[in-house]
Amino acid sequence: MKSLFPIFKNNPELVYLDSAASSQKPQIVIDWVADFLANDYANIHRWLYSLSERSENLYHQSKTMLSDLIHCKESEIIYSYNSTYCFNLLAQALVNADSKWEKKIWHGDKVLVGIREHHSNILPWQTLAQTFGFIVDFIGIDENYNIDRADFEAKYDESVKVVSVSHVSNVTGQIMDVKTLKSKLRDDTFFIIDWSQSVPHFPVNVQEIGCDALIMTAHKMFAHTWLGMLYLQQKRIKELNPMILWWGTPKDVSTTDFSLQWNSDKREAGTPNIVGAVSLLKALEFIQSIGMWAIREHEKRLTALLIEWFREHEDWIRVFGSLDRVEERVGVFSFEIKGKSFNKIGEFFANHNVCLRSGGHCAYPLHKSINANGSVRVSIYLYNDEQDIQSFFTVLDELWG
Ligand code: ALA
Repeated sequence: MKSLFPIFKNNPELVYLDSAASSQKPQIVIDWVADFLANDYANIHRWLYSLSERSENLYHQSKTMLSDLIHCKESEIIYSYNSTYCFNLLAQALVNADSKWEKKIWHGDKVLVGIREHHSNILPWQTLAQTFGFIVDFIGIDENYNIDRADFEAKYDESVKVVSVSHVSNVTGQIMDVKTLKSKLRDDTFFIIDWSQSVPHFPVNVQEIGCDALIMTAHKMFAHTWLGMLYLQQKRIKELNPMILWWGTPKDVSTTDFSLQWNSDKREAGTPNIVGAVSLLKALEFIQSIGMWAIREHEKRLTALLIEWFREHEDWIRVFGSLDRVEERVGVFSFEIKGKSFNKIGEFFANHNVCLRSGGHCAYPLHKSINANGSVRVSIYLYNDEQDIQSFFTVLDELWG
């Protein structure tokens, strides 16, 4: 696999174990984007000429491929800039009045999120809560670092209008059983799932979960940065107001009034990230050529090696996540080492050409809840191999000494 990713040829010593932050790009995506820019690029959604038509077709093909991957309609996909932007758009839409001039969240209502969430699923709510007077409450974690069901049941009262959680934690790598959570929600609860750390790593199906909104990001799955993907159920697209204060293509605008279009393209204000969408198209073709199950199986093998090693070294290394079952997690592990600062550990690895992440991983509430200032995170993807994992173990042994 490594030979398909030029970064490894150009940096032969590199051990890249930070794919939860961003993935490397295969040659095929890099070449395709250059080819697109050289042959087919123009602005979209206002074409009279064939170049623009070609560009727009590729843009829409990327949505078709994504909707096939996650099993929804193409018209239910809205492009934005990244997961953080998607959360902000969605939160903004939920506090704006809808087409019937009703707000989904109002003064005194509650938005329930997991304590294990990335800040992108916390800060937009907290910011708007200050203005609109709703409450943001947190569901704690259980001994396996998963959503604590008893805590959820205690907090899920009539005032809860939105439940927003990640499918896979970017810190612990634990996969949450979102289907069971969904089965506990009332119909009037708006259910949002952050798929940023799951859709790149294993097959997912919107229909099986039945949520209102899903959030994904392209750069973690072989495509360019600055493309976030928001799935919004058809009926929600119709109900919710546009999310930002200008419109892609309104039906009409005059100096005294305006009217709006009600489909997903019209939620994409201004010129979108056309190049990002085209890179996603090729990235999804690349994923399809390998197979999502094959990616999952490959990562499970490497994850099992990490689990085994971490279990054997539990006396000096504390992993923030369960080491029980490979089926219940992806290859993301955050840990601390007795008596050593997480930043110093990260630097030690960097000096050995091993790329890890250290810090709070944009999940300070989770770290606070387990009395940690931060952690070191190792995360894998398709291009990693046993040699990479071995290099990681070797540096850890040297560090502990
Ligand atoms: N959200 C990315 C991470 O968890 C950047 O590292």
